[in-house]
Amino acid sequence: MDTRYNPYPRELAVPLCRPPALAIDQALAFGDGSEHGSARGTLRALRDELGRQLGREPERVVPTTSGRAALSLALHALSLAKLDASAGALQGRRRDEVIVPSFGCPQVIEAVLDVGLTPVLCDTAPDRAVPDLAAIEAVASERSLALVAASVLGERVDLEAVEAWAEAAGVAVIDDAAQAFAGAPKSGRCPGAGGQLGVLSFGRHKPVCVGEGGALVVNAPALAPFVQAAREQLDIRWRRAAFARARADEPATPRPWFTDVADALAHPLPPPYAADMDGATAVRVFARLAETDEPELAARVAERLAARTPARLRLRPHDPALPRLYFAVEVPPSERHVLAGSLAAAGVETSWLYLPLHHSPRYAGYTRAPLIHAEALWPKLLLLPCRGWLSPAQVERVAEALASLAQLEPASAEVQP
Ligand SMILES: Cc1ncc(COP(=O)(O)O)c(C=O)c1O
Repeated sequence: MDTRYNPYPRELAVPLCRPPALAIDQALAFGDGSEHGSARGTLRALRDELGRQLGREPERVVPTTSGRAALSLALHALSLAKLDASAGALQGRRRDEVIVPSFGCPQVIEAVLDVGLTPVLCDTAPDRAVPDLAAIEAVASERSLALVAASVLGERVDLEAVEAWAEAAGVAVIDDAAQAFAGAPKSGRCPGAGGQLGVLSFGRHKPVCVGEGGALVVNAPALAPFVQAAREQLDIRWRRAAFARARADEPATPRPWFTDVADALAHPLPPPYAADMDGATAVRVFARLAETDEPELAARVAERLAARTPARLRLRPHDPALPRLYFAVEVPPSERHVLAGSLAAAGVETSWLYLPLHHSPRYAGYTRAPLIHAEALWPKLLLLPCRGWLSPAQVERVAEALASLAQLEPASAEVQP
């Protein structure tokens, strides 16, 4: 399998992600948070706003430093709940396994490892980017504590089916809406408001993109005290570890620039430096939350790009209820690098995200069942920029570059072993 990274444009004209620094300007335009009085007041106001959008009381929204921090808090809270006699169904058996997608963000599996639980990798559904019940059941066991249900790349986990199964199996569901939450939807349940706990992220590439920050949504009120205890414990643990890393001068050694996706997976990011979001980040999240038309604008960009996509590139499905982060097409795996190289030459950044985690020696040991569908999907994915903040000129540039791929003869593609 060809695990080289996608070629990067020499001159970047259309990025996949808006530089987070732009959010600072937006935040300044929005206000410095002083109307809320203090960092604490700003965080309180953010909890009010997120709670309103999610249909939850503000107390049930816990702003965090990242989505990974929120996920770790969720899992640690579930572990604490399991130890407590008052937690009902979760109590009793030894439950220390967490089902996570193999095709997915490595921060998810790292969050499981952060809190000393055992990840178990799960396949996707056939020709889909997310698991179905069959894939989940294939790896579930008596030891399953939780399932991270993450809707990614514009495809949604069937949460209703998963919740019904999980309740019967005594497994907690975490509605990981890191890629799905863009504010309250026009109809239906808000992403993040499902399962016992929900996770939001405001990190790079996310629908509400600030570059950092996240939130934990406590959907099951009985878990609130455990979330509070988990937050106190992890905040101290993470701050101590970050302090030790700083003293050891670790930040002086920057993460290398990887040319291979598998190498990158072998070098995970460090754990969160703290649990709680700060006031400055909260102001920036507010500013980005105000961009409510972004998903609609992105949908229009996608229509424009679809009209210019050469016939031999298959459009990946996209659930219209989810925000668009990328314009995803399917290409012959042996041609993918050449096609991405042509787009890079036109200044268009691309990505192919998520080499299935079991390909890394770091995570391969957490495989319990064959992961054939994730394996088949990844080599043919090519993701292009498709965001509502792109200028008309940028959209046109992507459309042109995409259309010009039709001129590349399939025979000219290099064949990888
Ligand atoms: C599905 C999913 N969950 C969780 C995370 C972690 O979020 P963060 O980057 O804010 O730690 C990500 C990040 O890409 C993600 O895609």
